[in-house]
Amino acid sequence: MQFQPFDVLPKDARTTVFLLGEDNYKEGGHSALTGEQLAGILALCLKPGKVGTIKSAAREGLKADVYALLPKELTYDKLEELMAEVASTLRTLKAKQVDIALLDDSLKDLSAAFYKQLALVDDGFSHYKTTGIDPIDPQQDKQEDEAFSPTFTLYLPKSMDQKAEEKTAKQAKKLAEGIRITRRLVNEPANVMSPKRLAQEASELAKKHGFEIEVFDEQQIQDMGMQAFYSVAKGSDAPPRFMVMRYMNNQDTKQVLALVGKGLTYDSGGYALKPAAGMDTMFCDMGGAGAVIGAISTLAMLKAKVNVVAIVAACENMISGHAYRNGDIIGSLAGKFIEVVNTDAEGRLTLADAITYAATVIKADKIIDIATLTGAVGVALGNQITGVVADDEGIWEAISAASSKSGDKVWRLPHFDHLAKSNQSERADIKNSGGRMAGTATAALFCRAFAFGVPWGHLDIAGTAYSDKASAKAPLGATGIGAEILTLAAVKLFEQ
Ligand code: BES
Ligand code: MN
Ligand code: ZN
Repeated sequence: MQFQPFDVLPKDARTTVFLLGEDNYKEGGHSALTGEQLAGILALCLKPGKVGTIKSAAREGLKADVYALLPKELTYDKLEELMAEVASTLRTLKAKQVDIALLDDSLKDLSAAFYKQLALVDDGFSHYKTTGIDPIDPQQDKQEDEAFSPTFTLYLPKSMDQKAEEKTAKQAKKLAEGIRITRRLVNEPANVMSPKRLAQEASELAKKHGFEIEVFDEQQIQDMGMQAFYSVAKGSDAPPRFMVMRYMNNQDTKQVLALVGKGLTYDSGGYALKPAAGMDTMFCDMGGAGAVIGAISTLAMLKAKVNVVAIVAACENMISGHAYRNGDIIGSLAGKFIEVVNTDAEGRLTLADAITYAATVIKADKIIDIATLTGAVGVALGNQITGVVADDEGIWEAISAASSKSGDKVWRLPHFDHLAKSNQSERADIKNSGGRMAGTATAALFCRAFAFGVPWGHLDIAGTAYSDKASAKAPLGATGIGAEILTLAAVKLFEQ
């Protein structure tokens, strides 16, 4: 993404996107449109929030001017929808070099979101889409689809501070890169993204972006006493991995924030087997892990003044002769005995040990966990709102502030004491499911039982991590939820 002042707008550009505020969509409006351009755009009879294209002949091929009219009350959602339309227009045009002209400053307050959206226009999970459904013709050369990956030059009006915008765009690009990392990790199927592979990917990211990583293997996980985590992991032939990533870049404080991500590379449900209809997307059950790895990578890219430790207990929940059962009573790193009433409530068991590790080994001052934890959160909030439970106002406020900057919606659910009592077991210290009622809150409070009283927050992304349809927010597949919220929340928590 390059920036240019307005007066050098190229005359011979092939694809130009003009963005204009609703107020200036008239003759004599305060925009940088020339009379000819204005006449062209008025002829399109654009509606606010809509995109129109004028094509004309150019020296080589076609020239396309794409006009988009920004609605008067521009919100994050409306900008996202508009940008999705702009992106699909550019895709149809197979645009390579795109000049974007902001004709006025009407998206000033949302410019960070705008730059992020531009940085993500070409993202998508397509590397397994190669020859398509038709029989392969042995005679014909394979025709490669040209990748859509446009480069942008931005032209800003004088009323916008170019230096400041360049800085905002640089940051936005890093946030977008974090989202891409999370999406890529989550989109890979479970036969590819095993616990071992996830640890390898995290190690490569650590080297590339500059954070530390320690990876513990199956034997070390057992030796450390992570009995709850290992009980879930032992049913699979794919060995588990425990990852601890550190980005310590704030010497002014000893405060440490732990980010704990659920890392089920596959969740079959175990002996409480899931129905087929709910099982085929369960490779996304490491969405929390993807988010914390994306976030710590972004924090390192931003050189953020934070001390963050990201923790992932990665394994598969499978069925076999060595799998755990419904009715088992298992130990845990914290020393609590857990009655396993449902092997499909496995995520909280892996989180229990990871959170205990954060509280007792890392001695974190604050813990935020993030997990595709309960179907119930989707029933309560749908697939565009992440459920949050927190016992600390500062953590909640940081998450909430981060979400309004990232455009991801969050909603807080309660953590009353009586809800925690649903996890009371008759046979052991605690049971791994408090039943259907208030299932998201009780699952969260199970996790909290392993936090040793450390201020804690919890994001349930089971509804928001993965979508089987493309939307204005994200392409089909992993949404990348969490990477940006956690990054911004971490930065915020270290500003206080
Ligand atoms: N991984 C699932 C939750 C999930 C559901 C993630 C849908 C993504 C989309 C989790 O491990 C699970 O199975 N939860 C159970 C808990 C129940 C057994 C108490 C659920 O929500 O049904
Ligand atoms: Mn499950
Ligand atoms: Zn799960």
